[in-house]
Amino acid sequence: MDGAPTGHRTTRIPTARYTLPAWKALEDERLWPRVWQIACTVDCVPAPGDYFEYEIAGLSILVVRGDDGALRAFQNVCPHRANLLLRGQGSGLERIRCAYHHWCFDLRGRLQSISPEDARPEASARASDRTGAAGRLALVPVAVDVWGGFVFVNPSPDAEPLATYLEGLPQELEWVGMEEFSCDAFMTVPLACNWKVVVDAFVETYHLHAVHPQMLAIADDVNTPITLYDKHSRFVQPYGVPSPRRRGSVSNQELWEAFAANLGHRMGIPFADQGAPGPHPEIPEGLSMRDVLVARIREHLGEMGARYADLDDHHVIDDFHYHLFPNAVVNVFAGWFGLIRARPGATPDDCLLDMWNFDLRPAERADAHPRPAVLTLGPDEIRALGPVLLQDLDLMPQVQRGLRQPGLGHFQLTRSEARIGRMHEILDRYLDPPAPLRLAPD
Ligand SMILES: [Fe+2]
Repeated sequence: MDGAPTGHRTTRIPTARYTLPAWKALEDERLWPRVWQIACTVDCVPAPGDYFEYEIAGLSILVVRGDDGALRAFQNVCPHRANLLLRGQGSGLERIRCAYHHWCFDLRGRLQSISPEDARPEASARASDRTGAAGRLALVPVAVDVWGGFVFVNPSPDAEPLATYLEGLPQELEWVGMEEFSCDAFMTVPLACNWKVVVDAFVETYHLHAVHPQMLAIADDVNTPITLYDKHSRFVQPYGVPSPRRRGSVSNQELWEAFAANLGHRMGIPFADQGAPGPHPEIPEGLSMRDVLVARIREHLGEMGARYADLDDHHVIDDFHYHLFPNAVVNVFAGWFGLIRARPGATPDDCLLDMWNFDLRPAERADAHPRPAVLTLGPDEIRALGPVLLQDLDLMPQVQRGLRQPGLGHFQLTRSEARIGRMHEILDRYLDPPAPLRLAPD
């Protein structure tokens, strides 16, 4: 496989799709209310009475664990006078009470009581009549389902099953055991760019040599085969080998140090030691530095249980990188994966970048499944995220400004950026945009 995606044709993208309020209005009207998207993880809502508010593009959706143990989702609005019902996340909920007039709903979204008029017999009778007015006064349900530890929601009443939407990804990623992973914190960074600029920056390896040159010592950014599914896409990137762009110029010591600095956690190297990992381990006769790294990762994976006991070298060390249309990027390694999610802001020029890091932890550990903390990072905390991410974060607002320059009507994709083109093709399917904003065949 040489990385040439099948069926690839889109290479010129209208910049207005990133800057025009009318385009954002199309996304807000026709994409977010009609597409499956990641709302939170099951660890946010493990017990009856747990809830989590997911917000995107003006929508507010409540994910609720019912007293029967079932997971449900509702539009977060009181059908009486349209107040938002709950904010943020929490637990111990026995009913959902609107703060405006104290109308109450049970955790299945059914109207429970109207206060204080529920003292009146006729009102109380109405409230218990599920087929009458009270039936119409239930919370508006949102389709909800779970895969890989993620809670997905889709506000559309015509939502296709999540399993259909995900195409073959659950089967393809079954080896990872994603539902056994957990995440300590949902980190969010506000960014001055369109949400698609974030997705674009995370679904291609072409910018590595320019923006993240330190990665070229440990990753092959050239032989990174791309697979386009119907809506979603993937690349698989070899790790533990230098980029062909640096062929012959990377010593084993440099490879070792760069791998420890960027992916030392995969070998169990404590964060404090990743910057100075010492001399590289001895490389047995006939083996390579990659073989040594594979052995070190395999040893560390073994400490987390038997899940990866039979994994081949390719799956032990390499990067399996997925774009989940529309706005999630899941970067999967054995024993660790990261989610990047981008949510639109109030204008086409801003967004929220969400970062969730997942570890596989032995199930018997007390912190095997913590409830993730929800954090918005300030400038100082952003600086602590590490050089690779900072390099991307510094770049993206500049791209957004560039997209606004009037001389540039389209931007140009190369073959290695085919996943960006595919995302735009699927956007056309959802948005049915007017001709000037539509993708033109090359
Ligand atoms: Fe990057």
